Amino acid sequence: MVTKLASSTVSNSASLRKVLAAINATPPAGIAFVLDAQNKLCGVVTDGDFRRWLLEGCNLDDSLKDISLNQFVHATAGESLEEIISRTNDKIRIIPIVNDQFELVDYIQIDKRMHLPVAVPDLNQGNELKYLTDAFLSSWISSQGAYINRFEEEFAAYCGVREGVATANGTVAIHLALTALGVGKGDEVIVPDLTFAATINAVLHAGATPVIVDVNLDDWCISVEEIKKAITPKTKAVIAVHLYGQPCEIDAIKALCESHRLFLIEDAAEAHGAAYKGQKVGSFGDIATFSFFANKVITTGEGGMCITDSTELAERMRILRDHGMNKQKRYWHEEVGFNYRMTNMQAAIGCAQLERIEPIITYRNELEEAYKEQFEATNLFTFQKKLPDREKTVWLVSALYEQEDKTAFMKLMRSNGIDVRPFFYPLSAMPIYTPYSFSNINSHLLSAKGLSFPTHWSVEVGKVAKALRQFTES
Ligand SMILES: Cc1ncc(COP(=O)(O)O)c(C=O)c1O
Repeated sequence: MVTKLASSTVSNSASLRKVLAAINATPPAGIAFVLDAQNKLCGVVTDGDFRRWLLEGCNLDDSLKDISLNQFVHATAGESLEEIISRTNDKIRIIPIVNDQFELVDYIQIDKRMHLPVAVPDLNQGNELKYLTDAFLSSWISSQGAYINRFEEEFAAYCGVREGVATANGTVAIHLALTALGVGKGDEVIVPDLTFAATINAVLHAGATPVIVDVNLDDWCISVEEIKKAITPKTKAVIAVHLYGQPCEIDAIKALCESHRLFLIEDAAEAHGAAYKGQKVGSFGDIATFSFFANKVITTGEGGMCITDSTELAERMRILRDHGMNKQKRYWHEEVGFNYRMTNMQAAIGCAQLERIEPIITYRNELEEAYKEQFEATNLFTFQKKLPDREKTVWLVSALYEQEDKTAFMKLMRSNGIDVRPFFYPLSAMPIYTPYSFSNINSHLLSAKGLSFPTHWSVEVGKVAKALRQFTES
C-alpha cells in the first residue's frame, strides 16, 4: 500500500496544463502534489478539483498561483500505518507523508479492494444489466414503460398485497402515503425515536405534527405501550418502522390502530422480505413504504414503493405521484400533486433484483450468523435478537457494543479498512426534532451502543474477525 513517491509533483506556479499532465502521468493515484519554492508541500490536487475548476471557468493556461487550493490531510513520517489509514474515508483515499520540514517523502493510497464498506449493491449476478440495457434501448427511460408496471405488480405480490406504486425514493413514498391518507395540518403522527430521519421528515413535510415515542430494548422497534400512552384525540396515524430488518410487534400495533381508528403506515425501508408470524411485513398497514436505495436489501439505485391492498388508495397515490393529473384528462389537475415517479430504468434493475431476492436475503441472514460465531467469544457484543414469530431480514448486521465507549473499537476497525457505522442518533437528541419528543429512554441507550458492520456479498468475515482479535488482544 505504501507506494514509491511517483513523479507527481508540480510547482505552485505551474499552469493547469502542467498539473493535468502530472495527474495524468500517475494513473493509479490520479493526483498531483503541489510544492512551493522551498520544496514544501502546499497542496494536493485531484482530478475532482480539476473538474470543479473547469466548471468555474478556469482554463488550462491559468496558473495554480491564482487558484486557492483546498486544505488537505497529511501524515508525518514515523506515524504508524494504522494512525494514517484511520484518517482515510470514502473521500480521502490518498494521504501525503511529509518530513519535519514539510517536504513530501511518500504517500499512502488506500487500495479500494482493501476497504470493506458497510454496503455494496449486489448487481452483477442476475439480469440487472440485461434489463437495464433493454429499458435503455427501448427509449422508455422516464417513468413509463413495461418495467414499471412489472416491478410494481411483482413486488406487491411478493409482499402479499394487491397494489404497488413505485416512487423516486423511500422518503417520498412515506410522504405520498401520508398525503393519500389525508394526513396533514392539525394531525399527530406517532413515530419511533430510533429511525432514519426520513420517517419524521415526511411527517413534517406533510404539515402534520410528529410525536416521537420510545422503542423496545429487545426488538429495537417502536413500543406498543408507548404508542398507547401517546395517543390523543389528534392522533391520525402511526408509522411503524421495521428497524434494521427486524419486524415490529406489528399485529399488536395494527390492533391498537384499529381500535383507535388510526391509520397504520409501515416504514419497511429496511425490511424487504421480513415476516411476522409468517406474514410478510408491508402487508399489515393501510400502506407500507419501501426504499430501494443502493444500500438496501434490494436496490434500484434510488427508488421506493408504496404498497397497499386498497385499489382506491393506490389510484389516489398514482394520481398524486403524477402532479395530481387526471388519468383520463391529460394536463387537467384536480389537486396539487408531486412528481414522485420512478423511472423505467430503475424499475428494470428492480425486476432483476426481485428475481434474486430470496438468495440475497438468505445470504445476508447467514452472514449475520457468521459474524455472531466469530464475535461470540469476546462477549463484547449483543446482536439484534431473533425473536419468536419474527423472521427478520438482515439489512445491516447490527449489534450493541457492551462496553463504555465504542470509539476506540471503531477507530481500530477503520484503520483496518473496515467501515463500522454507528446507529442513527435518536430523533429526540437532535434539536430540530426535540420539541416533538414524547418518550425516549431506550432509544438513547441503543443508539449509544449500536454499531453496524459490513453487510454485502463481498464481505470476508474472517478479515473483520482478525481485526477484532487485534482489538481484544491490545
Ligand atoms: C427507516 C427508513 N425510512 C425511510 C428511508 C428513506 O429511504 P430513501 O433513502 O430511499 O429516501 C430510509 C433510508 O435509509 C430508512 O432507513
